[in-house]
Parts: sequence; structure tokens; C-alpha cells
Amino acid sequence: MNPVFHRQAGRLFAESVDLEAIAERFGTPCYVYSRAALEQAWRAYDDAFGAHPHLVCYAVKANSNLAVLNVLAQLGSGFDIVSEGELERVLAAGGTASAIVFSGVGKREREISVALDHEIRCFNVESRAELERIEAVARGKGVRAPISLRVNPDVDAQTHPYISTGLRENKFGIPLSEAKDLYRWALERNALDVHGVDCHIGSQIVSLGPFEAALERVFELVDSLAADGVTVKDVNVGGGLGIAYQGEDPPEAGAYVRSMLQILGEREATILVEPGRSISGHAGLLLTRVEYLKQNEARHFAVVDAAMNDFIRPALYDGWSEICSVVQASPDVPVRLYDVVGPVCESGDFIGKQRELALSSDALLAVMTTGAYGFVMSSNYNSRPRACEVMVDAEQMHLVRRRETTAELFAHESLMPSR
Ligand code: LLP
Repeated sequence: MNPVFHRQAGRLFAESVDLEAIAERFGTPCYVYSRAALEQAWRAYDDAFGAHPHLVCYAVKANSNLAVLNVLAQLGSGFDIVSEGELERVLAAGGTASAIVFSGVGKREREISVALDHEIRCFNVESRAELERIEAVARGKGVRAPISLRVNPDVDAQTHPYISTGLRENKFGIPLSEAKDLYRWALERNALDVHGVDCHIGSQIVSLGPFEAALERVFELVDSLAADGVTVKDVNVGGGLGIAYQGEDPPEAGAYVRSMLQILGEREATILVEPGRSISGHAGLLLTRVEYLKQNEARHFAVVDAAMNDFIRPALYDGWSEICSVVQASPDVPVRLYDVVGPVCESGDFIGKQRELALSSDALLAVMTTGAYGFVMSSNYNSRPRACEVMVDAEQMHLVRRRETTAELFAHESLMPSR
């Protein structure tokens, strides 16, 4: 367990705040984040670079709550965005446009235009067609668009197929074999300012091997460009460092950064990283309360008030997160193997299966390590309002997103005119 989430006298705390007190005040389901954990995780990257020129660009998609972004912006973080919405969030959270990089395979014309207006640091370009569009938009505005080409190094990230991005068959990036031509094309365009090279091979990667293999391929390209007199200033190594959900043993951010710097060697380049999960993942948990305990011939079920709409990783990626009682049950409560399931009408609606727990009929549970790809992937399926989010800072709790109301669920809909 992350030390900022810890037990005292059988009760689970986030920093100095009793999690039961959060549930009582704000209700459940509720995501809880720790400011200290976010800061520690971001600094682990930043410190490891030492004096080497670098920028840690937090991948906003992992957890885009304004308070989360604001805490990181206060540390001087850069941001990796994939939409106009994320751009607006970062700016609203106090982030600096000149520290924003814009990734994603489907940037729309309007998004490119808005990003140029804000003078973001760089576009990570994923195809020739996108490069042509960025060039045209920038030319139309009479400005120069800063670009990096996102290359696809064709490396197996050894992760879940849905979150693997660096293989030939994935939709991401530009094949290494085509990159050189595209750099040449870009260099001849006044409206394009070639900044660097970028890659990202996937997410929840738990060993250094795939990162190292990818970077070595990227440097083959960089070196061959240098031989042609083309200097690449920024090398963006992407995100993807995994975290321990269930006994995985991923490298620490420091070891990962040191290995990247070692491969960089004597070359002069600013290194950018785009970590998401490894910054916010351990910094959050989901509080949920048992509604009913039930059993059939095969199983014991704990029906809780969080569902797949609140936390979809188990259903979508076979994601596993530790589930524990916030307050230890009294010794007379039997320990059983429970399937912890939500109220949604699908068998895929589970938070965890076959978990050893001692549960009273209104037990409060914490689903650990859900600070990344938790709330951000939630939906209103089954017309369920989205959960609230709370940020803990030492002994303070701050409501950083209130629970949606049921009226808000259909506020944008309308009835048909009567016939
Ligand atoms: N940079 C780019 C270009 C990305 O596409 C991503 C994640 C990241 C950085 C951050 O990767 P991270 O450090 O968080 O692994 N919803 C999935 C994860 C999707 C990741 C998509 N791209 C999940 O819950 O596992």
C-alpha cells in the first residue's frame, strides 16, 4: 500500500484523514486522491533527470480533474493532451501553454487552430495527412507550428492488447521507414518548425526492455537524420511505465529515467516524458459501500454502490485492483470469498472477483490504485450520476468535483414536439 494510504488502529487513512469521515461527509461512490502522493510521483521523475534538460509532461487523460492538474502545475509540470477539452482543462488549472504537447491520431482542424492560438510547445504528429493539415492551418494563420513526428518503432510492449500502441498493426505513429521522408518534407515548409521526435509504445509496461528497444530504434533514426544535417532538439519518450496492481514489479521512475539517459549518451537533446498512470495511479482510491450481501449455490456476492460505469478497468482490460475494508470488521464477522459487484445489469459489472473479505452488511470498501483511468473513464450508463472526487491534503479534505445530480443526467435532452 502506498504509504500515504495507511492503517491506524484498524482504520484506513489518506494522509491524515480518516476515509470513513470522507464517506460520511460526501457519500459513496467517491474517488479520493492524495496530494502528497501525486507530488511524490511527479518529483520521482523530475528529480531523476537532475540537471539534464527535460520536461515531465503529465498525460492528462489518466486523471484530468482540475485539482489534480493544478497540483502538478504548481510543481511546474508540463502536460500531454489529446483534445481541445484537455487543453482547456490544463489552462483552467493553471498550466502553461508553452509546456503542453498535443498527442493523438485524430486532431481536428479546430483543435489544431486553438492549440496554435495558445502557442503550445509541440504537436506530436501521427501521420502524413495530419502533418499536411497542421501545415495548412499554420500557413493560413501566418504562424509556424512546432512539430515532432511520433514514430512507431514496432516494439512489443508486452501489455494488454488494448493498451499496446507501438506495433505495426496499431493505428499509432508513423512507420520508422517513412519518417525520414516526412522530416525532409516538413523541413521544406515555412509553416512547420521541426522540434523533435516522439514515441509511445503502450501503457502498463512493467519492464525496461520494451522502452529500451523502442528508444534504441528512435535513436537510429535521430542519428541518421543528424548525419544528413538535421538536428532533433526534443526526444519525447512517451509514457507507459506500469504500476503494481497485483504483485507486478515495475521499475521505479528513477531507474526508468536513468536508463533513458544512458541510451541518450552523449547526444544533446531535451528529454520529454509523458507519464500518466505512474503519476496518478497510486494517488487515488475509490470508496464504495456495500448495499447488500447475497449468496447463491456458487458464490457470495457483495453488491456495492460503485459499478462498471464508475470504474471500467475490470470489465475492459481484466484490470485487477486490491479491495479492502476501510474499517476492519470485528472478529465475529466471517471471512468469505466475495465477488464484489455493482448494481448495473451486466455480468461484466464487477469491481473484483473472489476476494477474501470480512464484510458487514454496510461495510465501506476502498478500491486501491484507481487514481489513473478511474473517474476519467466513468460514464452515466444505467443513468447513474458520476461519483464525486475528493482531494486530501495533510489533514484537510477538499471536494474537487461534486457528485452529479440526476437532473443533470438529462439536462441536455428534450422531448419530441407532440403530434
Ligand atoms: N502518451 C501517449 C501518447 C498516450 O497515448 C498515453 C496513454 C500516455 C502518454 C500515458 O500513458 P501511461 O503513462 O498512463 O501509461 N485506459 C487504459 C490506458 C490507456 C492509455 C492510453 N495512452 C487503462 O486503463 O489501462
